[in-house]
Formats: sequence, structure tokens, C-alpha cells
Amino acid sequence: MAALLFKLSILCTIVLKIILSVEAQLSPDHYSYSCPQALQIVEDVVVEAIQNETRLGASLLRLHFHDCFVNGCDASVLLDDNATFTGEKTAFPNNHSLRGFHVVDVMKAELEKACPNVVSCADILAIAARDAVYHLGGPTWEVQLGRRDSTTANKTAANLFIPAPSSNITILTSNFAAVGLSFHDLVALSGAHTIGFARCTTFKQRIYGDVDINPSFANFLRNKCPRNGSDNVLQGLDVKTPSHFDNLYYKNLLVKKGLLHSDQELYHTDEADPIVRKFSRDVSKFYNSFAKAMIKMGEISPLVGNNGEIRRHCRRSNKKP
Ligand code: HEM
Ligand SMILES: *[C@@H]1O[C@H](CO)[C@@H](O)[C@H](O)[C@H]1NC(C)=O
Ligand SMILES: *[C@@H]1O[C@H](CO)[C@@H](O)[C@H](O)[C@H]1NC(C)=O
Ligand SMILES: *[C@@H]1O[C@H](CO)[C@@H](O)[C@H](O)[C@H]1NC(C)=O
Ligand SMILES: *[C@@H]1O[C@H](CO)[C@@H](O)[C@H](O)[C@H]1NC(C)=O
Ligand SMILES: *[C@@H]1O[C@H](CO)[C@@H](O)[C@H](O)[C@H]1NC(C)=O
Ligand SMILES: *[C@@H]1O[C@H](CO)[C@@H](O)[C@H](O)[C@H]1NC(C)=O
Repeated sequence: MAALLFKLSILCTIVLKIILSVEAQLSPDHYSYSCPQALQIVEDVVVEAIQNETRLGASLLRLHFHDCFVNGCDASVLLDDNATFTGEKTAFPNNHSLRGFHVVDVMKAELEKACPNVVSCADILAIAARDAVYHLGGPTWEVQLGRRDSTTANKTAANLFIPAPSSNITILTSNFAAVGLSFHDLVALSGAHTIGFARCTTFKQRIYGDVDINPSFANFLRNKCPRNGSDNVLQGLDVKTPSHFDNLYYKNLLVKKGLLHSDQELYHTDEADPIVRKFSRDVSKFYNSFAKAMIKMGEISPLVGNNGEIRRHCRRSNKKP
């Protein structure tokens, strides 16, 4: 009897472990039965958004990053402020800076029509980021799915955990390590700055203070971005091809033409130099490492099982106050 009970308890433990590991894991097939059209719906809207405005591809990629770095990839970044709730949108790195929210609304509305209450906003961000990279000429990868959405957000955490453009290599490394990403991941993911734009205010300190900057590049930028104004003037993060997901970002770093202080920080320490050089020489090594690091970033503390919810609208929790 005791032996039988013992065996039974082992069996139960094994079954429980299998259930838990299935629940705890994301999978590319998560919507295969519940919403087989999900991936196509998101991709079509990404293509349309990029047709409307190329930069939106970059903006969608950044949304996923800013989501994942704050309490994991749980779509917390998408929650709007209201009378009784303050979300992450007005945190310093996000305020007047994050964009593409209306594109996510279009995706969610179409997904709710096709498969109500099934596809999470956190997964939408992961799929959209992947598709945006691909449609701007970059690599693709199998996207892991099954994240659920948070019912809340944390502005303090957004201010703490999203690195600032003034960050040095020590801070950048520790910000990434805090979410389980390596130094190699940091260098690869920073390659996202091969697309998109930055406001003058984010690189002003660099062009009037840093010595580690190409002099003619600094002059060009000082003309666009005077000391005393033009804070919202835009400059491509990759000065040459800001609409193409290539490896020019790394080539720029080699000649001290990184736009942000944080970009150039990757290429003046001995530790970083080999990786930056590797990616600048070999675009397929960059693509490979970028794809791997994106999958890793997308797996930061997802809400699974009974945690969180599937939001009906990405801008607010289903929970009534
Ligand atoms: C390593 C630390 C990072 C810092 C300090 C940083 C900082 C910034 C800043 C200051 C901007 C310009 C914002 C503005 O002008 O309002 C920006 C833009 C952007 N960032 Fe980052 N970033 C980092 C990493 C990443 C990562 C990991 C990704 C994605 C994987 C990413 C994707 C982007 C994209 C695509 C844009 C352009 C967005 C657009 O044009 O709308 N960044 N970043
Ligand atoms: C593209 O632009 C059209 C016309 O302004 C707009 O109706 C549509 O919603 C936009 N699509 C996306 C995905 O933003
Ligand atoms: C965010 O922007 C609004 C203006 O649109 C401003 O009132 C507020 O102070 C800004 N918040 C931060 C943290 O910069
Ligand atoms: C928000 O994040 C900060 C910084 O990590 C943390 O100290 C605080 O407890 C969090 N607030 C909530 C309500 O979880
Ligand atoms: C990096 O920045 C932090 C915070 O600003 C500072 O405490 C630290 O001394 C800096 N490290 C280096 C190597 O400059
Ligand atoms: C900024 O400074 C320049 C040169 O000192 C001056 O010509 C210009 O009027 C100033 N602009 C603003 C907005 O103050
Ligand atoms: C305010 O936002 C929170 C988070 O999305 C939500 O739970 C709450 O229902 C909202 N309140 C109102 C009055 O819409």
C-alpha cells in the first residue's frame, strides 16, 4: 500500500511538472488552433504601417524592447493613464518618444474580430517587432508566443530599468544583466539602432561634450541641433540608411559616428571591440545574433498560466476600478 502510494505520488509529481513546464513555456504554436490567422493579421498591418510611414517599423521594434525591460514582456507599456491610474507612457524614456500605439490598436481590433479574447497584446508586440525587422530588410526568426497581459504598469520601474542615452558601458551592461541578457546580447540588440530616429535632445550632450566622436560628424550634427533649441529635430540613428536593417550601425561605430553616447560606448572598451568589429564585417553574424537575442529578450518574465489576462483593448486592463 505504502509502495503504491509512493509510486502514485511520483507519478503525480511528474504529471504536475509536465503541466507546469508546458504552462511556463512559450511556444511558436500557441495560436495554431485558437487563432491560426493571428500571425498573418499582424504582419499585414505591419506592412501597411511601414507603407504609411517607414519609421513606424522602427517604432514597433522599440515598443517591444521598452515593454520587455519593465516587469517583462507583458504589454504594460501600452496602458494609458487615466484619472486613477498612471502607467509607463509618461516615464522619462517614453514620454513624447514611444510611437506606434495606433498601429497596435489596428492590430488588436482586427484580431478581436477574428478571434475574440485570444491574442495577447504582449504577443502582438513580439510579432510586430519581428515582422518590422524583416520588412525593413533584416532577419526573421520563429517568434515564441503565449505571453499574457498585465493588469498594471510601473512608471518608477520604467525610469529605472530602461537605459538612458547618456549611460556608460557599465550601466548598459548591468541594465541588460538585470534582465538576463549578456554583453553579447547588448551589442547585438543595440544594432536595432540601424533603423529609426532620435530627437536632438537625446544626443545634444554627446555632440557638445564627447571627445569620442568623429569631428565632421559632430559638426554636421551641431548644425542640425544647436545648443539652445531644436530639441525635437530628428536624426537617423544610423546616419546613412535609417530605413534599412543592415549592419552599417556597427561600421559607423568603428569611425566614431555612433549617434547616441550609449551607442559609441560599445566601441571604446577593449571588451566590446571584437564583437562590434565582427558584426561590422559580417552581416549574417549580426543577423544571427540579433535574432537569438530578440528571442531571449522576448522571454523576459512572461505572464503565463492564470497570471495576467488577455486584454480586450491594449490600452486598458479588462479590470474595472
Ligand atoms: C542599449 C541601450 C539603449 C538605449 C540607451 C537606447 C536609447 C534610445 C533613444 C534615446 C532613442 C531615441 C528616442 C527619442 O528620440 O525619443 C532610441 C530609439 C530607438 N531605439 Fe533604442 N536604446 C537602446 C537599446 C535599444 C534596443 C535593445 C532596441 C530594440 C531591440 C532599440 C530600438 C530602438 C529603435 C528602433 C529606435 C528608433 C525608434 C523610432 O524611430 O521611433 N533600442 N533608443
Ligand atoms: C495607414 O494610413 C491610412 C490612411 O491615413 C489609415 O487609415 C490606416 O489606419 C493606416 N494604417 C496603419 C496600420 O496605421
Ligand atoms: C511628459 O510630457 C508632458 C507634456 O506632454 C509633461 O507635462 C510632463 O511633465 C512630461 N513628463 C515627464 C516625466 O517628463
Ligand atoms: C515599481 O517598481 C519599483 C522599482 O523596481 C519597485 O520598487 C516598486 O515596488 C514597484 N511598484 C509596484 C507597485 O510594484
Ligand atoms: C558610469 O556611470 C555611473 C553612473 O552615472 C557612474 O557611477 C560610474 O562611475 C560610471 N563608470 C565609468 C567607468 O565611467
Ligand atoms: C540660438 O543661438 C543662436 C546663436 O547664438 C541665435 O542666433 C538664435 O537666435 C538662438 N535661437 C534661439 C531659439 O534662442
Ligand atoms: C484606468 O486604467 C486601468 C489600467 O488600464 C484600468 O484598470 C481602469 O479600469 C481604468 N479606469 C477607468 C476609469 O477607465
